[in-house]
This record gives sequence, structure tokens and C-alpha cells, in this order.
Amino acid sequence: MQNNTIIPKLTVVGAGPGDPELITLKAINAIKDANVILYDALINEVLLDYASPKTERIFVGKRKGCYAYQQDQINDLIVARAKSHGHVVRLKGGDPFIFGRGAEELDYAKQFGIETYMVPGVSSALAVPAYQGIPLTKRGSSESFWVITGTTKSHQLSNDVKLAAKSTATVVILMGMGKLQEIVKVFSDEGKQNLPVAIIQNGTTKDEKFGVGTIETICDVVKERQLSSPAIIVIGEVVNQRSKLDSITTELQSQTLCHPELVSGSL
Ligand SMILES: C[S@@+](CC[C@H](N)C(=O)[O-])C[C@H]1O[C@@H](n2cnc3c(N)ncnc32)[C@H](O)[C@@H]1O
Repeated sequence: MQNNTIIPKLTVVGAGPGDPELITLKAINAIKDANVILYDALINEVLLDYASPKTERIFVGKRKGCYAYQQDQINDLIVARAKSHGHVVRLKGGDPFIFGRGAEELDYAKQFGIETYMVPGVSSALAVPAYQGIPLTKRGSSESFWVITGTTKSHQLSNDVKLAAKSTATVVILMGMGKLQEIVKVFSDEGKQNLPVAIIQNGTTKDEKFGVGTIETICDVVKERQLSSPAIIVIGEVVNQRSKLDSITTELQSQTLCHPELVSGSL
């Protein structure tokens, strides 16, 4: 490609929560059109198969024992590749605007005159509980839900957890496993020891693990079932209102059949 034909462009794209079928058509079209894809650890790498063989793929996520790009390095890489190659797709887990720093990357690129686009994704905050049959709202049980980060920029538990614990809303906590004991204490202090809690690790994938208990028992459940990150914590009466879904295992089995590489792949 001649340098003078390059139109620098960034599309921040939501890859969904793990099940490779939980991606939008618009996201697939963006991946197909990409000259370069910068992708995170939480995306299902099967999705990269939609890209042209010529597309450069750069892993910029964090994995145990591997070098992790800092956010400013990712920003600079986006700008440099957009200028040298054209269309950069920034592929992120779930929805890029839900604790995904998608907006920061778009704002940074815009300063350099790069065309910017956004393709929303299916957030794990909604899809992961849904695959376990947990409705975040249900008539008679929950009129609203909060989606909160367990770990803020300063590595503290978000103060919003305390506010949410005072409400009757369903509370969905991302990045909260390292703060589970603190979370449990916040709800116990509100006298909610018997409130149901579900924890779903690697939701919507073949590695999905699930544990259910109450504010009082959930730490023991986590130990017993060896639950860890990445996981979603769902707190509220709706956990007891789960729908029985026959399709969860069937769907996951059919994914494995359609995508045999998922058998050895990991999220
Ligand atoms: C940095 S946040 C990104 C969230 C993402 N933007 C979204 O909308 O799903 C990462 C956290 O999302 C949650 N998460 C993402 N995918 C998940 C999955 N498949 N199963 C369980 N939790 C998941 C975990 O709490 C994880 O630590």
C-alpha cells in the first residue's frame, strides 16, 4: 500500500464475553476490514480467524508471566499503526466502554486526526449471569441493577459498593475477586447475611465455573470450588430466581464442535 493512500482509522470493537457467537455482525465486518488488530487477553482468539491472513495481530493484554503493555504504549501503538497501516481494530473483551478504557483510546487517537469509530459489544456484566439463567431484573425481585468495579484505579474497593449495598438493586461486580472479603463485609454490615450470591468464572466458555451461596457462605464456596478471576459476582434475590436453561451445556458443546480449537484454547 502506498503511503499516500493510507487513511488512518481506529475502530474500537467489542468482542463479547467469550462465546465466539456472542459478537455482532458489525464487529465481524470491522475485524475483516482491519489492517492491524490489537487484542486483549479476555477476547476469544478464534475471532481473529475472521481477519485477513495479511492482517497484523498484536497481543497487548496481560497474561501471567508475560510482558504487559502499559496504556500509554498501547495508545502510541494505535496511532503509529494507524498512520503506517490504515485501519487499526482495537479488539476488547465484552463491551469496550464498560471498564474497558475504550473511550480513552478513542480520545487519544482523535488528537492525532485519526478517524475514530466504536462498535459496542455484549458485556460480560450482562451475558455471563444470563448464561447461568440469572435475570438481572425480574418482576417482584429486582427493579434495577448496578454494575460496579471491585477494584478502582487506586486499587481500593469502589465506594459505590457501599451505596449499592443499601439499595434493593441487583449488584454485579467485575474485577472483585481480590476484594471478596471486603465486599461480603459491606453487605454483612447492612444486615444482609442471607442475601444470595453467585460467582461465575470464565462465563460463556467451556471453562465456565459456577458457585452459589449467600453473603455469609460465599467465601467458603469460593474456596471449595476454587473459583478465581476472571469472574463476575452477582448479589441479589435474582440469584435464587434462576431460570433452568437446558441450552447452556448444549450450546457450549456445540461451540466446541464448531470450533475444535476451543478445546485446547483458553480465555
Ligand atoms: C477489565 S474488565 C472488562 C469488562 C469488559 N469490558 C466487559 O464489558 O465485559 C474485566 C473483568 O470483566 C469480567 N469478565 C470479563 N469476561 C468475563 C467472563 N467471560 N467471565 C467472567 N467474568 C468476566 C471479570 O470480572 C474481569 O475481571
